[in-house]
Amino acid sequence: MSIAAAREVAQVLNAKPNAVLGMATGSTPLGLYQELVRMYARRELDFSHVTTFNLDEYVGLPVSHPQSYHHFMHEHFFRHVNIPPQNVHIPSGTTTNYAAFCDWYEQRIREAGGIDLQILGIGSDGHIAFNEPGSSLSSRTRLKTLAKSTIDDNARFFKERDEVPIYAITMGVGTILEARRVLLLATGKNKAGAVAAAVEGPVASMITASALQMHPNTQVLLDEEAASSLKMRDYYDWVQEKKPNAPKV
Ligand code: PGA
Repeated sequence: MSIAAAREVAQVLNAKPNAVLGMATGSTPLGLYQELVRMYARRELDFSHVTTFNLDEYVGLPVSHPQSYHHFMHEHFFRHVNIPPQNVHIPSGTTTNYAAFCDWYEQRIREAGGIDLQILGIGSDGHIAFNEPGSSLSSRTRLKTLAKSTIDDNARFFKERDEVPIYAITMGVGTILEARRVLLLATGKNKAGAVAAAVEGPVASMITASALQMHPNTQVLLDEEAASSLKMRDYYDWVQEKKPNAPKV
């Protein structure tokens, strides 16, 4: 899955070296970042004109905190590639004015020309970024209270459950839907239900990933376990098999 995702990112960068990438954190995109770092080391990719916007950040964690998304991105990706630091954007978890910061973040995305490719994971509750169940499908970047299930899911990264932040700043579903292309990645059995609900269920704010059904260019990349609850799996395989021979459009 990670190699397939890296190929898609490479294709975007080859077509548009100054592409704007939307970045995600969590366990899911780790393999993708490792693969992109490898491609960069082999001089197959150049990030010198790339701009990035991350989806979200915990409120209250300084950038140096080992579980902050700033730290995650620096450790797993940014310090290994040549993206100019001034082109990197990650929501602030420590601003003194969240409303003003969120407006500024949306404005920066617009000024950069919009996001060309947004990388997404999915929460076990069907969230994208930290758009928890019930989030408006036209929401914009804002402060969000995390669902208890998300706090439980993310507690594995912290010493104590009490240390997991309760609030986050996150791009909205509406912000994400404006990306020109979206790559949704998922691995593992515990994502199978959320993936099936997002891809085959009704569009509903209870599964914010389902809003991607309204997006004109979203690709879903899964491992076998994450795909295991899809009802139409045979059809998707058939489409993949037949695609190379389809009339060229
Ligand atoms: P994970 O998180 O990649 O760590 O499973 C995904 C998400 O919550 O969006």
